[in-house]
Amino acid sequence: MNNSPIGIYDSGFGGLSVWRELRRELPDESLLYLGDGKNCPYGSLPEERIREVADEAVATLLAQGCKMVVVACNTATSAAIEFLRDKYHNVPIVGLEPAVKPACERSRTGVVGVVATERSLESEKFLNTLARYNNGVRVIRQVGRGFVEAVEANEESLPTTRELVHSVIEPIIEQGADIIVLGCTHYPFLREVINDVVGEREVEIIDSGEAVAKRVEYLLDELNLRAENGASAEYRFMTFADEEYKERLRRKAFGEI
Ligand code: DGL
Repeated sequence: MNNSPIGIYDSGFGGLSVWRELRRELPDESLLYLGDGKNCPYGSLPEERIREVADEAVATLLAQGCKMVVVACNTATSAAIEFLRDKYHNVPIVGLEPAVKPACERSRTGVVGVVATERSLESEKFLNTLARYNNGVRVIRQVGRGFVEAVEANEESLPTTRELVHSVIEPIIEQGADIIVLGCTHYPFLREVINDVVGEREVEIIDSGEAVAKRVEYLLDELNLRAENGASAEYRFMTFADEEYKERLRRKAFGEI
């Protein structure tokens, strides 16, 4: 048993989509969320820079006594997960990867779309996953340009955001994809808009949130790190930006904005 918090880290608001899944699946666990906010978006930063900030983020969470860290950011995972696991080898570190494997297994049309940041789609880690699991399925890779910025600005329901989302998602559907993978943790916040683009067509949208929550649960049991039954969970937020950003993180987490 261990009542210390689970640390969750992302470039900004995106990892809150994972935070929500963890809170739902593991209601006894305290969560400490670090949304960088200062260096966001990571999507087009050089890999070395992402490693530096990810290092600082994990060190910050561990200094707060976290028993486990979830890198709730596909971009930081692809750039830094091995480095982080090497450096902080006493602590379990869970990363996020686009759900390419289940998508390729389930596709009936043999065409799948993956929407993610430029850095994630170009990464060696992603290309290896693709080569390993695509299994003859055609995988259309598409950068969700402007998506992260729209979520960070709370502009999910603006007409300009709808147009932006349409311009990325519609061509993927037109090419025959029946599954679209959201490979960035910011994108689930655009789910309603994406669903509107899909409309009545049979296209499944998947992200990695639930699978990560299950992985965390498995590791907590495996390593005997679960919080006590009925422990009163605390939810705290941190940022490398300012107080205002921190307050926005909290409000976004609880669906107030
Ligand atoms: N939320 C992040 C991801 O999952 C990073 C987005 C960004 O900062 O560009 O990839």
